[in-house]
Amino acid sequence: MPFAEPSQHPLREGNRRMARIAYLQARELLDSRGNPTVEVDVFLEDGAHGRAMVPSGASTGRHEVLELRDGDSTRYFGRGTRKAIQNVVREIAPALLGMEANDQQAVDRMMIALDGTRSKSRLGANAILGVSVAVARAAAQSVRVPLYRALGGQKAQRLPVPMVNILSGGVHGGGNFDLQDFMVIPLRARCFAEALEDAVAVYRSMKGVLQKRGIDLAGVADEGGYAPRLASNEAGFDLMTEAIEHAGLEPGGEAAIAVDAAASQFYENGSYLLASEGKSFQTEEWIERLEGWVRRYPVTCIEDGLAEEDWEGWRRLTSRLGEQCRLVGDDLFVTQADRLLRGVAEGAANAILVKMNQVGTLTETLDVVRLAEMHGYATVVSARSGETEDDTLADLAVATGAPFIKIGSITRSERLAKYNRLLRIEEELGPQAAYALP
Ligand code: PGA
Ligand code: ZN
Repeated sequence: MPFAEPSQHPLREGNRRMARIAYLQARELLDSRGNPTVEVDVFLEDGAHGRAMVPSGASTGRHEVLELRDGDSTRYFGRGTRKAIQNVVREIAPALLGMEANDQQAVDRMMIALDGTRSKSRLGANAILGVSVAVARAAAQSVRVPLYRALGGQKAQRLPVPMVNILSGGVHGGGNFDLQDFMVIPLRARCFAEALEDAVAVYRSMKGVLQKRGIDLAGVADEGGYAPRLASNEAGFDLMTEAIEHAGLEPGGEAAIAVDAAASQFYENGSYLLASEGKSFQTEEWIERLEGWVRRYPVTCIEDGLAEEDWEGWRRLTSRLGEQCRLVGDDLFVTQADRLLRGVAEGAANAILVKMNQVGTLTETLDVVRLAEMHGYATVVSARSGETEDDTLADLAVATGAPFIKIGSITRSERLAKYNRLLRIEEELGPQAAYALP
């Protein structure tokens, strides 16, 4: 079923016109949680090919664009993606055939118009993003340049600093504690490869620290981090500090801690509820708690410290911690220009997480990155908790010169596909390669 007309296939047509979209194909495959997702193949008339796989979040923001699921409970618990795939083949393919693949904006605008909804809910953001990225990859192959170069031009030569997941809680860890991610930010490295080496050392060292303290290691979480059951959320900061020390790094000087609270997940009726501790905080008390952690531990980055609707809280948090800390909006901004502009106007956050599938096209993602740069917000290019072996994220980070990338832990190949791609890019750039020192 998911095939275009045979006559439209470039290889059979033998059509020599360059870089026009000739053929699209889509299929349902599985992501790293075993959930169905969308893969798209795009072929151009010159024979170039691009493929993309779409990731999927678990702690999704309320304002993200819509991931279209079949809702047919007889397949994959209703999470099938056959409707999205049909939309690629029946609606998007006919609209895009013959368009220039290297005019990414025109391609993306065409899909946005065809969908016609704000949330991309008619065709599905998973269908649209799969096509958007596959077209970009095909266009890059057509001119025989790496994707980061095709998207970012000659100035695309800076590798991002990795924020690497070590401990997982929240919905990624099965509710073992409430903060979603404890990450390490390597500080002493002078290139990406060295940074990754330090992050791996901290990950390994955490295992020893957990064992020494007799903390049960039930397994790994969605992003490959350890998911221990902890007596308190604060214990995560102690463990991180100790693991950094045990790895032979100086906490604060050679490695820092980043935390993704994913606070929208535990915000109810105006309160922050730490279920694992049976405690509840008003916004002001919760901000004080965050401030205390920044004072006592080498924390330099807090993502979604507050909930996506707590704008007033965000404004206060930013005025209190914005000088010392990167305050990253993930669910807060959902990679969307209008929410970022509201943040700029209200003084909320000073950095933005960039997830392509929160907005649904490559063009809109690049626009938000430019907007963030214009307003002095740092960008953190980010994977989702449900990922695939697609490594586009690495190229996106280098193309945009993003100072940070967040992919998850250094285990599990859906994460390593991106880390390894960055290692290859650094090698390929050779002496040209720059590194975004933290
Ligand atoms: P998600 O988690 O992909 O489940 O949303 C990642 C994050 O919150 O940063
Ligand atoms: Zn997040």
